[in-house]
Amino acid sequence: MPHKTLYRDRDGAVILDQTQLPYRVAHRRLERLEDAADAIRRMQVRGAPLIGATAACGVALAMQADAGDAALAQALAVLGETRPTAVNLHWALARMRAALAALPAADRVGRAWSEFDAICAEDIATNAAIGRHGLELIGRAAARRGDRPVRVMTHCNAGWLATLGHGTALAPIYAARRAGMPLEVWVSETRPRNQGLLTSWELREDGVAHRLIADNAAGLLLARGEVDLVITGADRVAANGDTANKVGTYLKALAARDNGVPFYVAAPRSTIDLACPSGADIPIEERDGDEVRHLHGMRGGVPDAIAIASPEVAVANPAFDVTPARLISAIVTETGITPPDRLAEAAEGKAR
Ligand code: MRU
Repeated sequence: MPHKTLYRDRDGAVILDQTQLPYRVAHRRLERLEDAADAIRRMQVRGAPLIGATAACGVALAMQADAGDAALAQALAVLGETRPTAVNLHWALARMRAALAALPAADRVGRAWSEFDAICAEDIATNAAIGRHGLELIGRAAARRGDRPVRVMTHCNAGWLATLGHGTALAPIYAARRAGMPLEVWVSETRPRNQGLLTSWELREDGVAHRLIADNAAGLLLARGEVDLVITGADRVAANGDTANKVGTYLKALAARDNGVPFYVAAPRSTIDLACPSGADIPIEERDGDEVRHLHGMRGGVPDAIAIASPEVAVANPAFDVTPARLISAIVTETGITPPDRLAEAAEGKAR
């Protein structure tokens, strides 16, 4: 990873500001609870595991200002409201609450930072394990392809920009590259926030061959037999295996099934929400309509936006969709590869 997405710096933290990518590398310093909450809301940090770690950081920053019970409750509430879909946010906050609530205020700052450090270290290890397990899936496709590159399709960004380590969906791709397997990655642009541009930037930094496509091109490529497997990340996996991920994932899963292409989800166990019975129970974030009314790019060396629709145009902007478990070939977690109907085994660490 050429850049760190989030790290501690003296009594604060620093994030890579993803709203500036891929146009320029910029950082933001987080010093207060509100800085962390704002960075999550504005998607300066994004991707389920990184959102969770940033929320944990926000709690530690809040404790530095005031480690009392009311301040702890306030920090958990403010951060819990920032983005609704990625359950890693709520998982990280629950973990911070469990670590801090019973402690005297004087012990909370040190404990908050050590819990944050543990969440980050675990994410790095988790990503590596997902990479190892996912490599097996790419290896199966490689065996069928002979000397020809394995063609992997992904959606959104579930790489190192979305985590503390090598990513989730992209971890097996990086592992395959390290293993010397020839690969080509189809990267869909992922309107309206264009996280596919982040994936393209990441893969380019790592020298992984890929082609950027318009979101609507995915069906044609799958139908033409130009994709060997699809791997995406996840924001929340319900108990029945239904999976919320970036809007557009469901259409890829449908087209993959229709064309006999395996569709895999790669996610840490912290993304599995056994308290959520099915996809219908997953809250789907609705974001500002201006994200759809504008296109973002670079003008005169500076990131900028142009309007493509009048402010009066009514817009719907659901940020995620739900792929039903029946369309998912397997879920790859740090414990192994598991069919979605045996998810509880993965959640308990018993996957193969
Ligand atoms: O809105 P975003 O950019 O936070 O959405 C990110 C995704 O949907 C990712 O695929 C998911 O969080 C997995 S990241 C390892």
